[in-house]
Amino acid sequence: MQLQRLYPRPGQTTPEQLISGLELGSRATGPRPYLVLNMVTSIDGRAALEGATRGLGGEADRLVFHHLRTQADALLVGAGTVRVERYGRATKSQELRAKREEEGLEPEPVTVIVSGRLNLPADLPILQEAEARVIVATAAQHELEGVAAQVQYLRTGDDLPLLLARLREEHGVRSVLCEGGPTLNSHLLAAGVVDELFHCTSPQIVGGGSEPAMVEGRSLLEPAKAELVWLYEAEGDLFARWRIR
Ligand SMILES: NC(=O)c1ccc[n+]([C@@H]2O[C@H](COP(=O)([O-])OP(=O)(O)OC[C@H]3O[C@@H](n4cnc5c(N)ncnc54)[C@H](OP(=O)(O)O)[C@@H]3O)[C@@H](O)[C@H]2O)c1
Repeated sequence: MQLQRLYPRPGQTTPEQLISGLELGSRATGPRPYLVLNMVTSIDGRAALEGATRGLGGEADRLVFHHLRTQADALLVGAGTVRVERYGRATKSQELRAKREEEGLEPEPVTVIVSGRLNLPADLPILQEAEARVIVATAAQHELEGVAAQVQYLRTGDDLPLLLARLREEHGVRSVLCEGGPTLNSHLLAAGVVDELFHCTSPQIVGGGSEPAMVEGRSLLEPAKAELVWLYEAEGDLFARWRIR
């Protein structure tokens, strides 16, 4: 699978090469980890097709998605996404685990699920993985029952900067890859804690009113301005890396 570089200058690479050695943790300054967001949308900006991401993005997007998971200490995701997409183990192969270790990271990221109400079905694949390390950030006081994963709770309510600061201080997390969804994205952007966006545009127009946009829910006081770092193309998918100012 080849990616054609369109910006800053023409060139060619593979998803494996492109998403390597990003050293996101070394960019962390201050009390919170460096945070990058990865999302795919249609040309008309819809972040789901028939309620899920399946069907948006092609093979290159799948590879970029999995290789991004080799670049961060922690994976951050909202409860709505975990429920719909049925999240399982974060690192899907021995090869990807080895890549993480070569990058100086643990073989598996810790998965941080944000769920205000702590409304997560215990039969989620990730919660049934005995080896999975999961942190649940919640406003609720109860614990999940019938789970096999190693689950810890951070009772940080809806305070995402506090959550990030505690991840850094108490769990040594220096880099976070957030995979959405739209509601969590709006809260992160409103709090000003998104450093970068990896965005794939899937070459299709979904239309309709029920599919969410990439950012939904909380309004931003002012638009978050971004600067283009790179732009690649593969089989019609466009891959942009944006640095949020
Ligand atoms: N295109 C893409 O790249 C992409 C990526 C991810 C998801 N999606 C799609 O997006 C849709 C899901 O959207 P969504 O907006 O429901 O997903 P979401 O943002 O993953 O989940 C929303 C839930 O997360 C919790 N939450 C979010 N922010 C919180 C905060 N600041 N404090 C406490 N809890 C917080 C709440 O959980 P509780 O309800 O448990 O309190 C809230 O109901 C699905 O269709 C999915 O396929 C697309």
